[in-house]
Amino acid sequence: MQMRNIKDIDVYGKYVLLRDDFNVQIVDGKITETFRIDASLPTIKYLVGSGARVVIISHLGRPKGKKDTSLSLRSIAEYMNIPFVDDCLKKDFLSNMNNGDVVLMENLRFYKGEEENDDSFAKELAKGFDVYVNDAFAVSHRVAASVVGVTKYLPSFAGLLLEKEIKNLSHIMEKPLRPFVAFIGGSKVSTKIGVLKKLASIADKIIVGGAMGTTFNFALGLPVGNSLYEENMVNVALEIIELAQKNKCEIFLPLDKGVGKSFSKDEVRINRDADKIHDDDVIMDDGDKTIARNKQLLETAKTVVWNGPFGLAEWGEKWGRASFDLARSLSHFTKIGKIESVVGGGDTVAILNDCGVFDDITYVSTGGGAFLEFIEGKELPAVKALLK
Ligand code: 3PG
Repeated sequence: MQMRNIKDIDVYGKYVLLRDDFNVQIVDGKITETFRIDASLPTIKYLVGSGARVVIISHLGRPKGKKDTSLSLRSIAEYMNIPFVDDCLKKDFLSNMNNGDVVLMENLRFYKGEEENDDSFAKELAKGFDVYVNDAFAVSHRVAASVVGVTKYLPSFAGLLLEKEIKNLSHIMEKPLRPFVAFIGGSKVSTKIGVLKKLASIADKIIVGGAMGTTFNFALGLPVGNSLYEENMVNVALEIIELAQKNKCEIFLPLDKGVGKSFSKDEVRINRDADKIHDDDVIMDDGDKTIARNKQLLETAKTVVWNGPFGLAEWGEKWGRASFDLARSLSHFTKIGKIESVVGGGDTVAILNDCGVFDDITYVSTGGGAFLEFIEGKELPAVKALLK
């Protein structure tokens, strides 16, 4: 997959419209996770070093075309220590920019035209610029004006982060060292049907965990007590199991679960076998036998992809045991050179950070939905718009 790259052009003195994905969590005006911003810096530095005048655009949250001050990008400009322009369609400041200057514009999604990929909005965004650069891998699965529509109006190129994401994820999907083992967790099977089906046809083993694992166990007739699961996904789960069997991909489901008596982090954790869950049990993590089994499966792997928590990791060690153990084991086997590990998805990346193992993983993607769609083998519309 060959995209037009910023290194192919001379940007000296040019006005560059740079699309980043700064969709990060901000609590009480404070950015809680800066990974996506930090990952965007190499392109920004490259453009600045090349003498471009760089104007960054991004979305934050889902304001649905309305101005919402709680979703302003101002605090990100402050974090980056760059000037902020409070409307992404303002142009008057451009004439005051010098070579090497960088500014950040307000949230694109304050305008309806962004998510609707409205042509006149895209044209207006492009006005005043010489070049467009997309470095926003995490939103490249959306058909939006700032990643698709705008490419009609400006010479368009991929930034260094977008290049890196496509290169690393393609490497894993095209030629994985085998056994290729996928750990897929999170709460909803319904959001990961495509990726599970794809993995069932290319991976050697899939380990389904977290609430998704509960849905799969329910589909096989196991009790799930008073727990979160998706009743309407039973047929899909069975279909995925059947598809995997047909493709000689082994599927591993939770053997036991960490349960409490109500949906609360203060509950006493009890370990219960998957076939012995009580009617009033609430499943909040995968159990200790499952954790030990997952570790053994990791030991036999050469390539590992992980997306989605295996329990309520946001509640700390007690209910995050399965997720934290997986993160630590993944770090260990990667560090000793036994596996190549790839992790994607905001919640999963947060677990890596909580365990202090982020830097040990072979490749961490900035994408959530985009990461899943790429793994699924879907063409990302914003990437397609940049192909040579
Ligand atoms: C993400 O966080 O996955 C991207 O920024 C895309 O956001 P969206 O799901 O709101 O389009």
